[in-house]
Amino acid sequence: MQTQLVINGERRAGSDGDTVDVLNPANGELVATVAAGSVSDMVAACDAAAAAQKSWAKTAPRTRAELLRACYQVMVDNADMLADIIVAEHGKPKADALGEIAYAAEFFRWNSEETVRLHGTLGTNPAGTAKMIVHHPPVGVVLMVTPWNFPAAMITRKVAPALGAGNAVVIKPPKETPLTALALADLFEKEVGLPPGLINMVTTKSASKPVQAAMDHDAVRMVSFTGSTEVGRVLLHQAADRVLKVAMELGGNAPFIVFADADLDLAVEGAIAAKMRHSAETCTAANRFFVEEPVMEEFGQKLAAAMSAMKVAEGNTEGAQVGPLINQDAVDNVDRLVTSAVAGGATAVTGGSPVDGPGFFYPPTVLTGVRPDADVAREEIFGPVAPLIPFTDEDEMLAQANDTEMGLMGYVFTQDLARGLRVSEQVQAGMVGLNRGVVSDPAAPFGGMKQSGLGREGASEGIYEFCETQYIATNW
Ligand code: SIN
Repeated sequence: MQTQLVINGERRAGSDGDTVDVLNPANGELVATVAAGSVSDMVAACDAAAAAQKSWAKTAPRTRAELLRACYQVMVDNADMLADIIVAEHGKPKADALGEIAYAAEFFRWNSEETVRLHGTLGTNPAGTAKMIVHHPPVGVVLMVTPWNFPAAMITRKVAPALGAGNAVVIKPPKETPLTALALADLFEKEVGLPPGLINMVTTKSASKPVQAAMDHDAVRMVSFTGSTEVGRVLLHQAADRVLKVAMELGGNAPFIVFADADLDLAVEGAIAAKMRHSAETCTAANRFFVEEPVMEEFGQKLAAAMSAMKVAEGNTEGAQVGPLINQDAVDNVDRLVTSAVAGGATAVTGGSPVDGPGFFYPPTVLTGVRPDADVAREEIFGPVAPLIPFTDEDEMLAQANDTEMGLMGYVFTQDLARGLRVSEQVQAGMVGLNRGVVSDPAAPFGGMKQSGLGREGASEGIYEFCETQYIATNW
């Protein structure tokens, strides 16, 4: 496993000699010790990116596109090796890890296609006196701060469009899961032949000073972040000092709405996907289940049966469906939310307390009788807990569903399409799954409303996030 910083194509130890230990969440054992970068390492990475970006921006779009396509292929060819690293450092089941690699690789394929279609416009001004040329040059150097829940996909979703548009990048991978990121950098440089300095990676022990140094670096013109709203706000304040472009994929608190006319088996299948995908550690995860009163009991029973049947195990175990949470803090947080919901009158119909033994496991849990103002319904759970809240009135339910500062994701289940579309439009979220538990797709605009973020990743919009817009007025 590659454990060094990646700066200007070189593999380096941290200049201060710092390291971080990467632990396997399934047993708490050491997976690897990784170099941790200092402020000066971060500055060197930004310098390298600035130098590499100049010639990369002049490289023909077709050449850039073909290199991106080769990154897709190298990920597909090495899927098993990459998935093994994800299982070791993140803990998710191997099937989910393989699914993540396929998803992550697609961002390269999709953006290789977008790279040659990064068009501007040409028009005539209303007075008829000038031509208006609008085109989209790259931003320059982009700082990326990525999360641990998708160690590969949250990197490729940013890197592929950024490179396609002609930028160079400096990535601060999460200290919990840097090994996948470092392995990707090796594949892209050594197998695909991306130029040195185009992708730099600086894992850090403590992020604040190196990240601040990158944001203060003259060449850095954008910060792209996926993580909590709390950290996003801090980065937004810091970005303001140099008026950096920002892309923020922040927290969620998704309502999952089940109407009485829904196909309940489909709704349960959707609920399992929306809640439990990638060990329930996704920002799109269903966080609050609003279930129409007449089907509350039946839906609750079916969901509890499906959740309790899931196999909770170390990621390489045959048939594993739910891995450990990332660390003890995550287990403690889920435990706190469940304990306080139960103290407030909720009932755990399955699960409800941490699993004994090594590793950071928490069982799939269904809570009935949850009050809409309970902490478990107001905070992002990031764990395998489904709080069920009954409703009788659509407007009242929608008011509760939207009573959150988050607006990333929502789910609606009904067989009445007109109602489904009407309610979907009223859910204040950047993405809605209508009779679907998974919406993520490299061809779709991923992102949130309200305090869930700024900007979109994926789709055609995704590559434009990493571009400036320049307008040239002329006449001929
Ligand atoms: C996330 O949880 O941050 C991303 C989820 C996804 O891409 O589906």
